[in-house]
Amino acid sequence: MTSKPMSVLITGANRGLGLEMVKQMLETQRPLSLLFACCRDPEGPKAEGLQALAKEHPDIIKMICLDATDRSTIKKAAHQVGSMVGKSGLNLIINNAAMAIHSPFFESTPEEMHKCFDTNAVGPMVVIQEFISLLRAAAEDFGKPGMSCRKAAVINISTIFSSNEITKESYKMFTVLPYRTSKAALNMISVCASVELQKYGILCTMLHPGWVRTDMGGSEGEIDVHESVEGMLRVMNSLTEKHSGALLNWKGETVPW
Ligand SMILES: NC(=O)c1ccc[n+]([C@@H]2O[C@H](COP(=O)([O-])OP(=O)(O)OC[C@H]3O[C@@H](n4cnc5c(N)ncnc54)[C@H](OP(=O)(O)O)[C@@H]3O)[C@@H](O)[C@H]2O)c1
Repeated sequence: MTSKPMSVLITGANRGLGLEMVKQMLETQRPLSLLFACCRDPEGPKAEGLQALAKEHPDIIKMICLDATDRSTIKKAAHQVGSMVGKSGLNLIINNAAMAIHSPFFESTPEEMHKCFDTNAVGPMVVIQEFISLLRAAAEDFGKPGMSCRKAAVINISTIFSSNEITKESYKMFTVLPYRTSKAALNMISVCASVELQKYGILCTMLHPGWVRTDMGGSEGEIDVHESVEGMLRVMNSLTEKHSGALLNWKGETVPW
């Protein structure tokens, strides 16, 4: 029996891990009905790779303007997506967009903290709030009990650097206070969301992609985008209700809080 076609939305899809997710989703997630590739400036030069992919797959990839720090763009994106998915709803949201500010404790300013919190924690929260009716529609349309990314799910891309437990050893290696704390806030938002979403049959799970060679991860990263995304998609495909509120890495291992 073939599975139902699924629809997916990815934020920060114009470069790095987000762009690789778009590429691999197209290759491996079958059947895929619509892939909403969101970025801040769909027409701009930073989205050239995504524009080329969208040109090749016009029936599947829809480029959508979404700035994680601007609620009006998130609201507008939800309307656009809603008009395209109809009663089937939206199956999967990947909150991938984020920013890292490299400031150690004594140099971190309130402005830097606010910027990171707005993008990395508040943005994903608002995305869930604005898209909830589309996720609920997908969960209802799926018509089977249990939870999965094919049914209705939110994946929030977190990081191992959000973990309190490893901070004593890892802080000096990566002194990014605004980033670490905003991702720790994202984790708490995700767990609270997972409890709220559970009652509608919607999964909410956090993934750490590994230390990846992207603009954010730098050239010293341990793995490339292909390996990271291949692993994360494998993990996403294996998630069930057992993983509601969990923080896992790209290999499927639990990350300590
Ligand atoms: N790379 C790693 O080693 C690593 C490790 C752990 C976790 N992560 C996480 O993995 C995810 C992807 O990281 P990456 O390495 O691919 O980073 P990246 O190469 O720096 O890409 C970041 C993406 O986020 C977008 N973005 C930033 N601020 C935004 C905003 N306000 N609204 C919408 N989009 C925004 C960027 O868009 P613009 O082009 O418009 O700036 C870009 O598409 C992030 O959540 C990151 O925290 C990465």
